[in-house]
Amino acid sequence: MSQELNLILLGPPGAGKGTQAARLVQDFRLPWASTGDMLRAAVTEGSDLGLKAKGFMDSGALVPDDLIVDLIVERVAQEDCEDGFLLDGYPRTIPQADALAEALEGLDRKVTAALLVELDDEEVIRRLSGRRVCVTSGHGYHLDFDPPKHEGVCDQDGSRLVQRDDDKAEVIENRLEVYHAQTEPLVEYFESRGLLRRFDGSRSQTEVHDHIRAALATLRLEESA
Ligand code: AP5
Repeated sequence: MSQELNLILLGPPGAGKGTQAARLVQDFRLPWASTGDMLRAAVTEGSDLGLKAKGFMDSGALVPDDLIVDLIVERVAQEDCEDGFLLDGYPRTIPQADALAEALEGLDRKVTAALLVELDDEEVIRRLSGRRVCVTSGHGYHLDFDPPKHEGVCDQDGSRLVQRDDDKAEVIENRLEVYHAQTEPLVEYFESRGLLRRFDGSRSQTEVHDHIRAALATLRLEESA
């Protein structure tokens, strides 16, 4: 049976999806697609997509499905995704999930697992208000939980650390509302298909990572049995 790992990272804003994705791609040598990063890059470039997406992102709303679905459908069909991929931030709505399932079906493939990193709203607010990101690489830090060695400077390349525009208090609240209304229904969607794996995002970064890695190793063993 297939050893492909076609993975989705699901969870509220600030749950640690990007943090875990960075570790998992090293473990499993998977290509990683973050729709948030793709959209932020498009905004920085000033591309047509970026111009259309910026207002939605700044207010904490989701970018409309029709702007995002093709990006991902095209991405997973690329050659480097043949043995699997890790999607971070997609799907975020039921129509996005359906579009992915349909695209994979056309390639005779399917999602292996949806990894849900759970975190309550209060902790989300703490995480996001303390997050700082590198202007060059996007590498993330947290003022209290994962501070850089030198304040305001990326450990990896010495670039400046900044706060994301959508990590301001008023926008965080809206992102949480949007998550509960539009993205949380995906928990039931993947659970009913037997694809959901839950992880306690309030544990340390290393513990969450260890739990996910163990679950994926088990999944691979089950698939090869
Ligand atoms: P996106 O960039 O995807 O934002 P998000 O889902 O809100 O997720 P975040 O990146 O904020 O958080 P994360 O879970 O990755 O947490 P992180 O690891 O950084 O999307 C941004 C916007 O783009 C959306 O609002 C929307 O407008 C648009 N968009 C994107 N995808 C879309 C789609 N598919 N459809 C429509 N619109 C879309 O961690 C957070 C902080 O906590 C960091 O400081 C980190 O150091 C710290 N931390 C992480 N783990 C731990 C831990 N275990 N303990 C303590 N601290 C931790």
